[in-house]
Amino acid sequence: MLLPDGPKSPSIWQMFQWITRPFSFMSSCSHHYGDRFTVTFNKKFGPLVFFSNPEALKVILTGDDSKLFDAPGELNTAFEPLLGAQSVIGLSGDRHRRMRQLLMPSFHGERMRSYGQVIQDVTKEVMNELVAGEPLDVRKIMQKISLRVILRAVFGLNEGPRYQQLELLLANMLDKMSNPWKVSFLFFAILRHNFGPLSPWASFVRNRQQIDQLVYDEIAERRNHPDDSRTDILNMLLSARDEAGEALTDSELRDELMTLLVTGHETTATALTWALYWIHKLPAVRKKLLTELQALDGPSDPNVVIRLPYLNAVCSETLRIYPVGILTFPRVTRSGLKLTGTSLEPGTTVVGCIYLTHHREDIYPDPDEFRPERFLERRYSPYEYLPFGGGVRRCIGMAFAQFEMKLVITGILSCFELALADTRPVRPVRRGLTSGPSPFRMVINDQRVTNYLLRRKSLIVCKPISIRLSNLERKL
Ligand code: HEM
Repeated sequence: MLLPDGPKSPSIWQMFQWITRPFSFMSSCSHHYGDRFTVTFNKKFGPLVFFSNPEALKVILTGDDSKLFDAPGELNTAFEPLLGAQSVIGLSGDRHRRMRQLLMPSFHGERMRSYGQVIQDVTKEVMNELVAGEPLDVRKIMQKISLRVILRAVFGLNEGPRYQQLELLLANMLDKMSNPWKVSFLFFAILRHNFGPLSPWASFVRNRQQIDQLVYDEIAERRNHPDDSRTDILNMLLSARDEAGEALTDSELRDELMTLLVTGHETTATALTWALYWIHKLPAVRKKLLTELQALDGPSDPNVVIRLPYLNAVCSETLRIYPVGILTFPRVTRSGLKLTGTSLEPGTTVVGCIYLTHHREDIYPDPDEFRPERFLERRYSPYEYLPFGGGVRRCIGMAFAQFEMKLVITGILSCFELALADTRPVRPVRRGLTSGPSPFRMVINDQRVTNYLLRRKSLIVCKPISIRLSNLERKL
């Protein structure tokens, strides 16, 4: 098969590099072979062509809804052990379209904005649990926030033993998932085997069974006691009907709920962790953001917060510089075609490389520099800036994730003065199937902690932002 050039090393070595240091692997390939190159991670999957040219991405991502490309779920089997065979991520064609139609309404317009209060409450709740003056593992805190948010949005649960057990088990499972070695079975199907009770696969299966039991119990209880007044995603999915009038089965529901819990939690937690890092690493960024937040009139109205231009630019730049999802899901050519000068035969598997596209010098001058202003100075096309992918598999939770990022950042900066605990460099590393920052710590400024404890004593969780920021402004 005629394919663009790429590394000639054995596929096992390419896979090893892809798992252990994906960013330098991609940069080195693009340096040697340009904005299209072919890699081979394993013989069974075959060659994979990486594209990072916006013109090519436009054809790939608009073509996946036409006769040019398929977006087959069968190629996303790495997710199957976790999400199940009926997850929207693993479905193709009409079944995929049907599932998206059933899921999408939960993430639109008014419905999505109704989660605003949940996000603000959870942010306060988790931040108020923190111990004064101690170095904090930011990622753990962001994970706690995003897990509680998605659990409440999905199940409408916020108390009781089932909720507590689910939170604990999911946190435990997803924590393990962050280590590429502990989840090597996601990359190598041959490792999906019980090598003894302590083996990663056996422990994963045990953990998953416990989670499944709780999810099925919740589904059964909801079916037995329907309550139309509930506004959570599970309720919506229970009453959803496809074009043929069919409802989702229990196992379909389980797989979609797991999909939303996993995709909706890990990705947003990573994006928030990066955002807090950049905001506190770069004093000028923090100062501009605080000035914008200070101008808010009274307690933050989610509808106002989502429109703040500098906050939007900070979130966009966070998702540009080190995108959480490095690649789009694979697409496959239906027939032979020429893509920006490259001939592709039918059946060629291609991916949009989000990271390399976001690092093109011609679109983003000084691409390694964190500069939110670039998003105020110009607009980027959906093929130049695509942290959520595009086309028929574009991220279902895109609006939800952006909304959550903005509300959590506002909630934290409005009530707490944080600082990086040390000057160690933070770099992007692989986290299971996605990427994220290497671990770092932050501290809550002592003065702030005192104020914060006083506020708790007097039961004022959060004073109006304009008063609290005036002290901080003087220091800046
Ligand atoms: C900052 C946060 C997030 C990022 C960066 C992100 C990124 C992505 C990317 C790159 C894709 C692949 C798109 C493609 O192949 O074209 C994707 C798909 C997906 N995302 Fe997200 N995502 C985020 C948050 C969320 C949230 C909050 C949810 C749900 C609650 C979610 C659910 C999904 C689902 C279900 C898919 C698969 C869609 C399909 O196969 O049709 N994501 N996401």
